[in-house]
Amino acid sequence: MTNTENPTQLIDRFGRVVDYLRISITDRCDFRCVYCMAEDMTFLPRAQILSLEEIYTLAKAFAELGVKKIRITGGEPLVRKGALELLHNIGSIESLKELVITTNGSQLETMASSLKAAGVKRINISVDTLDADKFKAITRTGDLHQVIRGIQAAKAVGFERIKINAVILKGRNHTEVCDLVQFAVDNGIDISFIEEMPLGVVSQHDRSGAYYSSDLIRKDLASQFNLLSSTEKTGGPSNYFVVAGTATRVGFISPHSENFCSTCNRVRLTVEGRLLLCLGNEHSVDLKAVLREHPGDGAVLKQAIIDAMHIKPEKHEFNIHEQPVILRYMNMTGG
Ligand code: GTP
Ligand code: 5AD
Ligand code: SF4
Repeated sequence: MTNTENPTQLIDRFGRVVDYLRISITDRCDFRCVYCMAEDMTFLPRAQILSLEEIYTLAKAFAELGVKKIRITGGEPLVRKGALELLHNIGSIESLKELVITTNGSQLETMASSLKAAGVKRINISVDTLDADKFKAITRTGDLHQVIRGIQAAKAVGFERIKINAVILKGRNHTEVCDLVQFAVDNGIDISFIEEMPLGVVSQHDRSGAYYSSDLIRKDLASQFNLLSSTEKTGGPSNYFVVAGTATRVGFISPHSENFCSTCNRVRLTVEGRLLLCLGNEHSVDLKAVLREHPGDGAVLKQAIIDAMHIKPEKHEFNIHEQPVILRYMNMTGG
């Protein structure tokens, strides 16, 4: 469905305008975060994933249909060869207001300034703990010091905003929420706390037992910080507060405790070219097949995207206390 008054706007059955596209450009990652991947992951063969040209063609089609914000994700997007050129090309799409990226930070020390030059405006970096040993345990392979150097490099090149993402798990990192906020304040950056979502089967913890709600985090933070509620929105799912006396925003992404689906404005493109209409459901349309069956035919592609809005589900069906229904891991969609 499109808006009859404005045919360049994607609208779903519930009247929600979709103007935010998240594109996973690789399923590969140099980390293996315990909540995101199994220890032994097999990654997709090259022929099965979209080429960089195909990703650009899709990004352009979405922009022509009213998408204003594109977030590049992975896996770890910066490990894909040609990522910078792709970012530059997408960043040059005139009608796009924002090109943003979510990264694990491992490549930032060397790539931050090229990212800025490619047109990336804001950057979200995953950091769940400031303890190097815990960081290694959570990411299985990551080096905290390398990521911190990456954050410093990103600060030095001057992105509009930098945000840390922290997935909080009871018994793993829940005692660190104040330290993480203090780190954000000290560095003049933002932070969002995320409730873990049950995507794929994980082996190292019980998701129900590890659940730590945003409410509990807010209570913990109240012992050290005065959080002022804020109406500011980034077009993402975070509900923001400001740390009084600072520029730091603290966001809460609470898929379990504060459902935000009624204001959902986003869809996702998986690395295989599947347009996923909701993170927590399998409703999807195979845009790679459309592209490869009708090469160069922008009208057919755009119609397929418009039609896909009919099957965007009303809300996710996550239940942290049951075995995951969605077997796809987060690295297919980058969140
Ligand atoms: P901003 O543009 O800075 O607001 O970013 P964002 O929060 O939209 O993006 P980011 O990649 O930092 O995502 C943070 C977390 O939010 C990830 O864990 C995502 O899985 C989660 N998230 C983003 N969109 C949705 C959504 O539609 N549903 C659910 N359940 N989670 C989402
Ligand atoms: N639940 C919630 N967040 C997750 N992420 C990865 N897997 C999960 C999960 N199962 C987060 C990463 C990253 C963001 C894109 O998604 O930590 O910050
Ligand atoms: Fe890699 Fe991000 Fe998944 Fe961690 S959460 S394994 S950094 S894709």
